[in-house]
Amino acid sequence: MRLVWTTDLHLDSVPTHAWEQWVRDISALRADGLLITGDISEGDDVVLKLQNIVRDINLPVYFVLGNHDFYGSTFQATRQNVIHACRDSSQLHYLTDLSAMQISAGTYLLGEDGWADGTVGNYDTSTIHLNDFERIGDFKASAQSTWKQQLHDIGRESATRLRTKLEQLPTDTQQVLVLTHAPPFREACWYEGKTTDDNWAPFFVAGQVGNTLLDFSQLRPECKMTVLCGHTHHAGVAKMNANLQVHTGAAISGQPGIEATITVNSRDLAVAQHHAE
Ligand SMILES: [Fe+2]
Ligand SMILES: [Fe+2]
Repeated sequence: MRLVWTTDLHLDSVPTHAWEQWVRDISALRADGLLITGDISEGDDVVLKLQNIVRDINLPVYFVLGNHDFYGSTFQATRQNVIHACRDSSQLHYLTDLSAMQISAGTYLLGEDGWADGTVGNYDTSTIHLNDFERIGDFKASAQSTWKQQLHDIGRESATRLRTKLEQLPTDTQQVLVLTHAPPFREACWYEGKTTDDNWAPFFVAGQVGNTLLDFSQLRPECKMTVLCGHTHHAGVAKMNANLQVHTGAAISGQPGIEATITVNSRDLAVAQHHAE
């Protein structure tokens, strides 16, 4: 089985010619499925963009949502719309709403939106102010003093769902491919070849999701975990321990790309990143 991985498409700001080129590039790879690690578009048209992907590429699409996918909407409304769209399409698979899927003997695919949850770095002294707080209804409707707690709560909910999915994996699972949006570790949070500092980390690292992944990797050392994420728009690979590796994808504004081809065999899961910048 061969899967193509792409991330941070931001299709709300992609010109038609770039979209058509991307469709041709993906189709030429003749893969068995497409993986998307969030920031597909924005809340008002993420469903339409997912439907366009299926219409033009006609592959099973396995995806999670990123922070931008909720812009102009709320968490609940966006997720509900996306879940409904997936019920109407045999090709669309929103992994956050699904338990692990077997993709090869002993190999499973699962995903969680994840959230940069303010638990890593120093939230209280950070000078970063994300558009998330202006563009996502849940934050906009609440006082700034509650945002830190909201980030913690969103991150905890995602980590809890992830833990359940991991715990439900059969005991003879040899490999698991995990899709998420925000890097789960500071080490996976690349920017121009460097990992992030205390100022940026609260808004770039999904700390509680990271703890869950690390716990499971230690509990099940025989299970190889490969995590794919995006959000920073800069590529890199972080080896967290012997059986846990995180690939972060790059993205160029207005120009959707292809991050990697992933070949899955019963004993191996190889990620061939197309570029690392
Ligand atoms: Fe993004
Ligand atoms: Fe993002």
